[in-house]
This record gives sequence, structure tokens and C-alpha cells, in this order.
Amino acid sequence: MSIVLGIESTAHTFGIGVFNDKKLGRKRLVHSRDVYRPTGEGIVPRKVADHHEHVFLPVLKDALAQAGIGLDDVDAIAFSQGPGIGQPLQFGCAMARYISAKTGAVLVPVNHCAAHIEIGMYDAKMKDPLVVYVSGGNTQLIVKDKMYRVMGETLDIGMGNLFDVFAREIGLEYGHGSELELLAQKHKNYIAQTPYTVKGMNVAFGGLLTYAKKHIGKYSREDIAYSVMHNAFAMETEAAERALCLTKKKELLVCGGVAQNTMFRNMLKTMLVQHKAKLGVPRNEYNADNGAMIAYTGYSLYKKHGKKATVPIEKAVPNPRWRIDQVKYL
Ligand code: FE2
Repeated sequence: MSIVLGIESTAHTFGIGVFNDKKLGRKRLVHSRDVYRPTGEGIVPRKVADHHEHVFLPVLKDALAQAGIGLDDVDAIAFSQGPGIGQPLQFGCAMARYISAKTGAVLVPVNHCAAHIEIGMYDAKMKDPLVVYVSGGNTQLIVKDKMYRVMGETLDIGMGNLFDVFAREIGLEYGHGSELELLAQKHKNYIAQTPYTVKGMNVAFGGLLTYAKKHIGKYSREDIAYSVMHNAFAMETEAAERALCLTKKKELLVCGGVAQNTMFRNMLKTMLVQHKAKLGVPRNEYNADNGAMIAYTGYSLYKKHGKKATVPIEKAVPNPRWRIDQVKYL
């Protein structure tokens, strides 16, 4: 096997990637994507699925053109099976089944969170890291041995979700963490009463969100943005430090959408100095959701496990609540 197509459709991003093991250098891995951007509301599943359907052909054509291949050259189709939002996931799985039926390529289901870790380790060249996986829906501390083990996680919402909801509340157009970070950089004061909730290696962000929403108007948007981000990052850094001491790892990989935040990276870096451990961060194009991570992970799984890593066409259906510690093949 040499060419794997990867389809990503778990949330707002529709992406297609191609991993081609015959090509050397950066061109081994290409991808194309289109992101659904709601204005003034959260993600509406039907609207996201409609968006993905709308952009499917141009994204597919662009990915194939970048890879210099046609659909018939594809040996396997890796698809994001979960966790994620039902309707957009259903669309991605349906397209994977269709291409498989049309070309005869085998189907390899991929766990979205595992794909963030695998592409992160590949791109940041890490061998045995403690993983801090932070995105919209997830915040987890993970180590990989015979399985992916979750050492700690959020007890309520994901860190990205905290930032997105708060950003929308204060009227930022796309409600993204990156815009909130720009606002936070202009802060004057840290609000000392901002909640801080760490329970062992677990964290909780719900109280932080409620506090932030309640105090809009009482404090400046900049000060609240900074205090919320500071505490969320400090909470996760504290939990990560605990996991690092326990596992004695010398590498820490931060990946997922929120890993693009420089304030968080710097905080982790400062903590790691004391433990003489190294920070690994994949390039931003791989931290945001993308099809390349699905193609790469599907390739690795199929190379290692062969047919066992594949599913028959009727089983290529979404698994919206697929936890990373339930992944069988890695
Ligand atoms: Fe993601």
C-alpha cells in the first residue's frame, strides 16, 4: 500500500488529506480544507453538514491535485469515525463509503483524537511524550503505550469551548480563541477572584465560564479575557506537571486547536524547564482539524495491522462518542 486518502468531518472543518509513501520530503503529505464559520451562534449540526456537502468536491479536487493523483490511485480511505458531531460525521462516512465502493479501496476508521496525537508526534518528532490534547471539545492528558491512557481530563467542557462561548458572549465575530488571545494581550489587570478548579489531574472549566459571563460589564473585556485564559492555561499546566512527575516523561507534546495559543505554550515551556523536559508543538496547520492527520494515522494503522485495521463498507458508520481510551489498534 502506498497512497491513503484521509477524510475529516467531525466538527466545523471538512478536510481531505493524502499520504503517499512513495514520495519523499514534505510532498508525502498534502491536504485541503474548508472551515464552517458560524456568525453569532454556536455550531448547528445540520448547517455544518450542509457546509461539508457544499465544499466536498472542491476540497477533494484540490487535495488530489496537490498530491498529483487521481481517485483510482488511492489504496485505502481513512475516515474520522469519531468522536464528533453526528450529522457532519455521517456525511464524511458516507463519502468514504462511496469512494470505497467506486474504487475498491479499503476503509480504515480513525479516532479523531488519536490522529491529533499521531500527526503531532510525527511533525514535532517526538518519541514518547506526555500528551496535552486541547481542543474545542476535548482537554485531556494522555500517554501512549499498549493503548492511549487518559491520565486526566476536563470534567465538563473542553478548553476551546470555554473560549469560544465566552468570545461569542462579548461579541467577537467568529468566537475563536485566537481573537480572544489578541484581546487578552491588551489587558491591564488580572482579576484575582477568577475561579481556578483542579482536581488531581482533572480540571473543570464550567465555573470559569459562568464567572466570566456574569462579570461582563463589571470588568473590561480585556481583563476578563486575560484572567480566564490565564487561569485555564495555569490549571492545565498544573495538571500536566502532576502527570509529568508521575510518568517521568522527558517530552511533552501539546496538540489540538488550542495548542496554537502562544500564551499556553509559553506557560508549559516555563514549567518544563524545571523538569528538564522538552516541549513539542506540531505546526499550526496540523493543530487545527485537517485531513492530513487522518490520512497519516490511517496509513500507519494499515501498515502495522493490515486487514485488522479495516472495516467492511456497512461498518463505516459514525461513532460520535468514541473515546480515545477505547481505541483498539494503535
Ligand atoms: Fe480536533
